[in-house]
Amino acid sequence: MRVIIEKNADAVAVRAACFVAELIRRKPACVLGLPTGGTPLGLYRQLIRLHREEGLDFSQVTTFNLDEYVGLEATHPQSYRYFMQENLFRHVNLDPAKTHVPDGLSLDFESSCEKYEQMIRAAGGIDLQVLGIGSDGHIAFNEPGSSLGSRTRVKSLTGETIRDNARFFGSEDQVPRLAITMGVATILDSRRCLLLATGPGKASAVRSAIEGPVTAQVTASALQLHRDVIAVLDEDAGGWLTRRECYAEFERAQRLLETGQWRELGIGKQ
Ligand code: F6R
Repeated sequence: MRVIIEKNADAVAVRAACFVAELIRRKPACVLGLPTGGTPLGLYRQLIRLHREEGLDFSQVTTFNLDEYVGLEATHPQSYRYFMQENLFRHVNLDPAKTHVPDGLSLDFESSCEKYEQMIRAAGGIDLQVLGIGSDGHIAFNEPGSSLGSRTRVKSLTGETIRDNARFFGSEDQVPRLAITMGVATILDSRRCLLLATGPGKASAVRSAIEGPVTAQVTASALQLHRDVIAVLDEDAGGWLTRRECYAEFERAQRLLETGQWRELGIGKQ
């Protein structure tokens, strides 16, 4: 896993936007997997800025969101469809028909979840899956104990996630108890994953996910099995990692490689 530690949340957003924009420029009809929550807001602001100031073109991009609460209308201010509409979709030139969020209203969970998986396959799979991480180490709504082989399905939220998300609803009892979520295996099928984390509240989860054992108790740790994951963290979220020096060293070498500074890498000195 490539681990990039930036100074603060703003720098994380800028760096994450570079990865997303680079993909869109290289592959205009790419497929993005997107999260909601507090973490990606800075990234979405950067993407909107790139669209307005540099003409970043979303017209051929397809998106699939990770999850949606069960029982909330798309017009409910706390539904994830509404969140995406307000924080990204309506500010860029995405084709609404190419934006997908799991259907939180269909109570035929099995067929709506299977349909979501089929739509991802029909779009050619996800090129870049952006992820946040819960303070208990979850990705999407794959709470501790979720199967690492799971696919899109309905899940009940843990007390910790309900407490974490109550800040958006005003109180804990207004938070829905069920959500439709991509599974861990659905996420691992993506060609690249971009894991974002900011703030000291994520430091423990980030350390378990990146340096702990692969376990269903920390579903983000399954990302260690993926061949192309980039974690972009701020100093607070990366503060508990024990191998920070190694990650920084790798990034320095990566930069030298990308800019062709072979001699600095010790190539061609003899
Ligand atoms: C949301 C999602 C969740 C969040 C996670 C972190 O679509 O998939 O896994 O990424 O709960 O949430 P924030 O960013 O609000 O700390």
